[in-house]
Amino acid sequence: MSGARLEGKVALITGGSSGIGRACAIRFAQEGADIIVADLNASRGAQTVAEIQRTCNQRSMVIEVDVSNADNVEQMIDRARSEFGHIDTAVIAAGIANAQYVSGETGPAVIDQSENHLINTSLENWNRVLAVNLTGVMLSDQAVARHMIDQGIGGTIVNIASIAARVPLAGAADYCVSKAGVAMLTQVLAVELIEHNIRVNAVGPGFIETPMTAAAVENEEGKAMMLGMTPMGRLGLPSEIANAALYLACDESSYTTGQIIFPNGGMNAG
Ligand code: NAI
Repeated sequence: MSGARLEGKVALITGGSSGIGRACAIRFAQEGADIIVADLNASRGAQTVAEIQRTCNQRSMVIEVDVSNADNVEQMIDRARSEFGHIDTAVIAAGIANAQYVSGETGPAVIDQSENHLINTSLENWNRVLAVNLTGVMLSDQAVARHMIDQGIGGTIVNIASIAARVPLAGAADYCVSKAGVAMLTQVLAVELIEHNIRVNAVGPGFIETPMTAAAVENEEGKAMMLGMTPMGRLGLPSEIANAALYLACDESSYTTGQIIFPNGGMNAG
């Protein structure tokens, strides 16, 4: 694959079993990277790996991980290191829409339901969303960055935030706050890691066709809400987010760090 943007690189993709993470894993493999799919759902991750091996002939493996568990995240890096030697780029995409959401299953739609308003949110639900979407990103970024510093060859990290980092969505305070946290985490880490030649950026997607939005798409009110907020009048495709992540992961963005780009069909978010 000569001339490919990620030729000879190793990419770690959390959340790589489904949706946006899966699209990143496949897109990065098309650009010459070997791929580590790290996800809670290892059996679905094996399908991503099989697709990569079938279509791109890149090396790829799946590691089961719960990104909200610090020991799990350490083990993920150790395993990646022992199998692939190094990690050059990471996309941190593992996330949940709400505390009840299980990826790949139709969970509650993210639409404005008063029972989900902040005044009714339980501490347990709040903690769960923050644990996966914010602490999970922090732990993953920290472990990847420590590994890259040890390697001494720099690297790139792309966090998957959301328009919810900037746009208040009623009924999703936990999710919005977690994503706003990811945005600031990205900026602080970028500044801290410049001296190590590690660039840290984020992608803040609008509404994208994945299992996460499937329940809302099936619900008339939910679909109208999402399309009403999106000037292009359609949901985005996971591949459109993967292309944005690819830009931030490869040398084409060599002067860019601490930035969040918002592929969102024209929403006024950013
Ligand atoms: P998805 O549900 O299709 O994929 C999420 C993946 O994360 C799944 O494979 C799931 O198993 C994994 N995961 C969940 N919890 C985990 C944990 N504790 N440890 C390890 N893996 C875990 O969802 P989608 O849409 O692909 O979301 C990916 C990222 O993009 C998430 O961070 C989400 O918040 C973000 N995002 C999604 C948008 C959308 O409209 N679909 C819009 C903006 C941001």
